[in-house]
Amino acid sequence: MVSRVIPVDDFDLVIFGGTGDLARRKILPGLFRRFLSGQMPETSRVIGAARSEIDSDGYRQMIREAIAEFGGAEAQDADGIEQFVQQLHYIPVDAMGDDGWKELHSLVRFDAINAFYFSVAPSLFGALAERLHTYKIADGDSRIVVEKPFGRDLASAEALNATLAEHFDESQVYRIDHYLGKETVQNLMAVRFGNVLFEPLWNNHYVDHIQITVAETVGVGGRGAYYDKSGAMRDMVQNHLMQLLCLIAMEAPHQFDADAVRDEKLKVIRALQPVDPHHIVRGQYDADGDHPSYRDDAEDPRSHTESFVAMRCEIANWRWAGVPFYMRTGKKLRARTSEIVVVFKDLGHSIFPGDEKRHRNILSIQLQPNEGIQLQVTIKEPGPGGMRLIDVPLDMTFADALGPDADDSPDAYERLIMDVIRGNQTLFMRGDEVEAAWAWTDPIIEGWQARNDVPKHYEQGSSGPEDAMMLLHREGRKWREIRE
Ligand SMILES: NC(=O)c1ccc[n+]([C@@H]2O[C@H](COP(=O)([O-])OP(=O)(O)OC[C@H]3O[C@@H](n4cnc5c(N)ncnc54)[C@H](OP(=O)(O)O)[C@@H]3O)[C@@H](O)[C@H]2O)c1
Repeated sequence: MVSRVIPVDDFDLVIFGGTGDLARRKILPGLFRRFLSGQMPETSRVIGAARSEIDSDGYRQMIREAIAEFGGAEAQDADGIEQFVQQLHYIPVDAMGDDGWKELHSLVRFDAINAFYFSVAPSLFGALAERLHTYKIADGDSRIVVEKPFGRDLASAEALNATLAEHFDESQVYRIDHYLGKETVQNLMAVRFGNVLFEPLWNNHYVDHIQITVAETVGVGGRGAYYDKSGAMRDMVQNHLMQLLCLIAMEAPHQFDADAVRDEKLKVIRALQPVDPHHIVRGQYDADGDHPSYRDDAEDPRSHTESFVAMRCEIANWRWAGVPFYMRTGKKLRARTSEIVVVFKDLGHSIFPGDEKRHRNILSIQLQPNEGIQLQVTIKEPGPGGMRLIDVPLDMTFADALGPDADDSPDAYERLIMDVIRGNQTLFMRGDEVEAAWAWTDPIIEGWQARNDVPKHYEQGSSGPEDAMMLLHREGRKWREIRE
């Protein structure tokens, strides 16, 4: 199978915060891989912009080192790196002042696509938008890319949206949720809407429940003070998990385009019911030998911020009424894995005598570490001895199914940046989606604060607090094991 790389049109991409962690760890190494694949035209330019007083040569050296550290296998390609860095430029710019803006204006080409990546703290978004406008660097065709966190509640998200809307149309704004750039997420839409097989079963008549798990093995060490102001609900649920929930639950858009897809996702968020406090479990990881506890990492011995959350949600519409959606995410868990699991209902009656085991079809969609889709089906155990049934997976692990081409598929950031250049907003969050997600999340967080809710403790390397298990056990269900 040959993967097709379609080069994008000529572009100038300005990365505000081009010297920062995200730019060096993800954005530039990702662009380098697109360059190697032939997707980035040779005349295109990436312009780093930040306050640091370095020149373009200094920036090229910084990015050589970043690619060596974060570029993966491709970092061995010394010639490729040299060619790529020739397309890099740097301008010292202060978002809050006037330094560098005139120089930036004279550097950016207006006869090519121009995109501005705000890889800086959200508090600088307004200043950047205003100066891009004042210095006439961005116009009605420019693209603006913003990173999470997009607000910390509804009010701050509305304020950010309003700031951007002062100078840019919604059709120019690309809000990144890198989960949406994952190959499997798009495959989820292909599986749902490209096959006749699943659609008739995709509802409360046949689906027993759905689980969404995003588990991490790392703690919050290093960025504990930042994380402590956020917690799992703001950091993961409000964006990544809710986006996955939308994709699994939404109706078929009338076509695969940005607004049609985003309209359907928005309807799901609006149909989400308020969550009963008894249906949410929060947790904080304990210390384990030399490994510090969450509170040690957060440097606050009395912190009530959650490093784990599990919840049971319901979507009030005809398709999903009565079907529980269980979501959980946490740090310092047993394994690093992201998975969506659709558990279908039991057969009403078994015709096979002696077969008392419960057989269920389960569709599991893995986002990481290995992207792929599995369908558990029931078959006859091979060999003599009567009709014994066993459950086996139909495995669509991409690495097996697609061979070496699976490794060539771009990672989430690469894909999303190329979508920005192409002007395709389908995999980006629209402003009203983000606001609706906060409108659902805010009362949950406010409830915890009002009740002074204290998170349960859980062991490092476990599946989270015992109460999270009970969330399903008391309804006769169980979580999928957290494993890679
Ligand atoms: N790192 C990640 O993995 C990650 C993941 C998801 C989202 N994000 C978000 O992405 C954004 C950037 O994160 P980061 O980790 O890269 O942060 P960072 O390492 O602190 O980098 C911040 C960047 O902003 C520049 N900067 C700061 N003040 C400036 C000003 N007044 N004018 C111009 N440039 C200025 C800094 O360079 P100078 O000091 O030289 O000006 C630096 O390049 C944040 O909003 C973060 O929440 C990051």
